Amino acid sequence: MDQRDQNNLNNQSFYKYPKLSKQQTDYLSLLCSPKDSYSAYPIIEFLNNNPKKHLEALQSAISSLNKNDQYELFQNTLPKMAQYSLELVENSPKKQLLISKGTIQFTRKEIYQFLSLAFFGLLIAQHDQFPDPCNLTYILQDSIEKAKCYLHYFINAREEQENELVTLERISFNKNYHIDHFFPNQKTNSILDLELWSNCNKSLKNIEFCDQYIEEQENSFLVDFANKYVGGGVLDYGCVQEEILFTIMPENIIAVLFCKVLEDDEVVLIKNSIRYSDYKGYGYSFQFVKREPKNLNQNILVLDAQDYSYDSLKQYQPNEILREINKSFIGFSLSQQLSNEEFLLPISTGKWGCGVFEGDCELKIIIQLIAFSASIANEDQQRKMIFSTFKDKKTNQYQKVLDDIIKKYKSVGNLFQQLLKMSKKYRVFEFLVNKQ
Ligand code: APR
Repeated sequence: MDQRDQNNLNNQSFYKYPKLSKQQTDYLSLLCSPKDSYSAYPIIEFLNNNPKKHLEALQSAISSLNKNDQYELFQNTLPKMAQYSLELVENSPKKQLLISKGTIQFTRKEIYQFLSLAFFGLLIAQHDQFPDPCNLTYILQDSIEKAKCYLHYFINAREEQENELVTLERISFNKNYHIDHFFPNQKTNSILDLELWSNCNKSLKNIEFCDQYIEEQENSFLVDFANKYVGGGVLDYGCVQEEILFTIMPENIIAVLFCKVLEDDEVVLIKNSIRYSDYKGYGYSFQFVKREPKNLNQNILVLDAQDYSYDSLKQYQPNEILREINKSFIGFSLSQQLSNEEFLLPISTGKWGCGVFEGDCELKIIIQLIAFSASIANEDQQRKMIFSTFKDKKTNQYQKVLDDIIKKYKSVGNLFQQLLKMSKKYRVFEFLVNKQ
């Protein structure tokens, strides 16, 4: 982006709120008092700009609610959503967009307000370098199961938690932290320096494989297999790991609204969002499962892998391996703002970049092993990386091979040097285990 665009974006660095027409305000005010479904639907459709298609997914999701939830929705929830939407538009807090490194905080109530405006289709796109769509309109039209997750959130968000804080932090490469703190004896300014990684004599740490889903790890950092546009297709038709993680924990959507597209050396942390829904299935078979919302002390580490679906051999090139090591290293080294206790929470990861982005799973495991081992500041720091295999039998056999590789190479530098010599004739683990 040239300087002019950068300046332009900078002076647009505050969130732009919608300016409602009198009609939109009147309709929202109408919704502030309880309506039955017949009078509520046309208003919600009008506010969603009378989409080409009726909000059929919303109608189906509402019909799937039990009687109590339906009553709660029309009596209290929709009026609260309309009231909170008007409040946010009438006295809009000045909120900095996350276009470069920095931290912003939201109360749960503020996030509820943004998501309510998104439900009524009233948010406006911030800039072409921000994820778009930013409203729930598509979901309310076409995605019944996602619509159920959002209704479950809107109905069950508890007022006594409204003043709790959710923090967004955008982290980018910072020499004083990422090099001076983690590679104290190295004299370089670049994290992409081959010598830095080849000379790293930190010991390789164990990765604990477990046969479950990433989001089952409580008190941890959950790795979001992200798109560089945070959230990917979460407000659209997408429904794999990132979109599911954001749909079952809808407060994460605030990062979609506030984060500009990520650069190669940037990650985002979302701290303290609540898990609202359960699910079964995946992709097109995704289905909402009701659960009691609970704060599981989970934080999200938004980490976008490279997309190799167009050219899978590219991922074995040294510069590509280095990009993925650095993205995951900047992610796993988390933030200088964290308390020591937070920093030591386990990282819950898995086949990052190995689905839609068609990464080589064995290569990505080695890349994450190198990055995680380097993100341990000193040898006695007890940090854990848990690799959830997503019920994949094959990855369940990886524990043994990985233990052998760790035993054989011992240090980050030794493993890194050998990895760069790899030829695509062999499978990654086979190449590393059989090297004489
Ligand atoms: N727990 C553990 N593993 C999981 C989970 C989960 N909850 N969900 C999926 N996986 C495994 C699956 O095996 C999947 O194939 O992780 C693999 C990678 O998941 P993807 O979502 O395909 O991740 P990636 O390849 O990085 O693609 C990222 O997809 O969701 C979009 O917005 C995202 O555009 C980005 C792209």
